[in-house]
Order: sequence, then structure tokens, then C-alpha cells
Amino acid sequence: MSTYLITGANRGIGLELCRQLVALGHEVLATCRSTSPELDALGATVFEGVNVGDDASMEGLARSLQGRRLDVVVANAGVMHRDGIDNMDMDRVRQQLEVNTLGPLRTAMGLRENLNHGGKFAIISSLMGSLADNGSGGYYGYRMSKAAVNAVGVSLSKDLADSGIAVGILHPGMVATDMTGGRGITVEQSVQGLLKRIEELTLASSGEFRHQDGQALPW
Ligand SMILES: NC(=O)c1ccc[n+]([C@@H]2O[C@H](COP(=O)([O-])OP(=O)(O)OC[C@H]3O[C@@H](n4cnc5c(N)ncnc54)[C@H](OP(=O)(O)O)[C@@H]3O)[C@@H](O)[C@H]2O)c1
Repeated sequence: MSTYLITGANRGIGLELCRQLVALGHEVLATCRSTSPELDALGATVFEGVNVGDDASMEGLARSLQGRRLDVVVANAGVMHRDGIDNMDMDRVRQQLEVNTLGPLRTAMGLRENLNHGGKFAIISSLMGSLADNGSGGYYGYRMSKAAVNAVGVSLSKDLADSGIAVGILHPGMVATDMTGGRGITVEQSVQGLLKRIEELTLASSGEFRHQDGQALPW
């Protein structure tokens, strides 16, 4: 049994990560801004009031963990706005950077001392952060925030190697959640793949950008 901490655990991919991990017998620390009846029903330990977009909130989480040891942290919380060239809202662009890029960075900074040697830090990024794959434009803030979090992941993979912590940068596929208006593969399928990728993650593969189905993805 391992101890996992998940951000953005109250719905979507984060909730399903918690559900499958609990079913596999792991200890799950589920963090969220506000819990949900679905999360409360799982038997995970829920930490509410955890806003990954806020420095003080993440420092509060680190304090409330009181040095608890973790094997895996999944920086999953994220937000997407459909900003395009004709409907740009800089505050929304900034918010996506705050949550999707600085959120995982804050999570790593706040929790790295809790991670065991041999532990793992997984970032739920997106293929929309790939510059090579951008065939349709738009989504300025989201694409920027996910490209930048990929840079965070690669630097973390170098900086945490001496502590024995491997870093995974993972694309969940297009998944039927609130974020996509219910379009895409099921959360069950996506999370099965994500958990396989996290399981096979080692220091040798640290810093790679992978689809949940195992494919290596272009930057
Ligand atoms: N669905 C897809 O097709 C897809 C594709 C590629 C990547 N992703 C990535 O996968 C991750 C999960 O997405 P999803 O599809 O599960 O989306 P979702 O259903 O919209 O859920 C988003 C989760 O992130 C949480 N969150 C948002 N802002 C937060 C903040 N400031 N602090 C803490 N939690 C916050 C939400 O909590 P609240 O309820 O409090 O808002 C919710 O738990 C995201 O990083 C997303 O970018 C998703």
C-alpha cells in the first residue's frame, strides 16, 4: 500500500484517481477547494480549502500534513477557458497560468519534503501544451499554461533526481468531464492509463511527456 496525494480531487479526473486508488487499497489524501458527496463517499482522507492557485493555501496544506510521508503526489487540479483571438480576457489568461502552471509548482515546493526517496510527482498536463501539436490555434491561456507546466516538470525532474523522486508529465487524453462538456473517453479509461504510467515511472523515464496510453508526446 502506498500513500497518494491528489489535488483537485472533488470531481472529474481527480475524483476518479481517488476512486481507483482507494479500490486498489492505497491510502489517499484527497485535496480540494470544496469536497463533494462523491468524494466523501470514497473513504479517502479529505483536505478541504486547498486552492492550488494560492500561496498561503498551499503552505497551509503543507503545515496540516505535519510531515506525513507521501509516495506519490498527483498535481491534477486545472482550469480551462476558451480564450481566442477575438475574445481575449487577460485576467482569465492569468488565472490559467496561476492554477495550471504555478499550481503544480507550488504543490511540488510545498510537498517535496514529504515525498519519500523513490517517490513520484505526476503532473496532469495536456497535449494542448504541445507546440509541435498545435494545429488549430486559440486557447491562449490554456496552451501557454500547459506548455509552461511542461517546463516546470522537466526542471523538477532534474532538481528532484538526487532526492530519488521521479517526475511524470502526463496527458490524460480527451476525457468526458465538466472541462470538455462531457466529450471524450471515460474517466475510468483515462485514469486506468494514468495509473499505469505512474506505476511504470522511474528515474530513468523522469521528465518525459506521455499520453495516458503510453505514447511519447512531442513538446
Ligand atoms: N478532460 C480532459 O479532456 C483533459 C485533457 C487534458 C488535460 N486535462 C487536465 O486534467 C486535469 C483535470 O481536469 P478535469 O477534466 O478533471 O477537469 P474538471 O472536471 O473541470 O475538474 C477540474 C478540477 O480541478 C479543480 N480546480 C480548479 N481550480 C482549482 C484551484 N484553484 N485549486 C484547487 N483545485 C482546483 C476543480 O475543483 P473545483 O470544483 O473547486 O473547481 C476540479 O476538481 C486538469 O489539469 C486538466 O487541465 C483534462
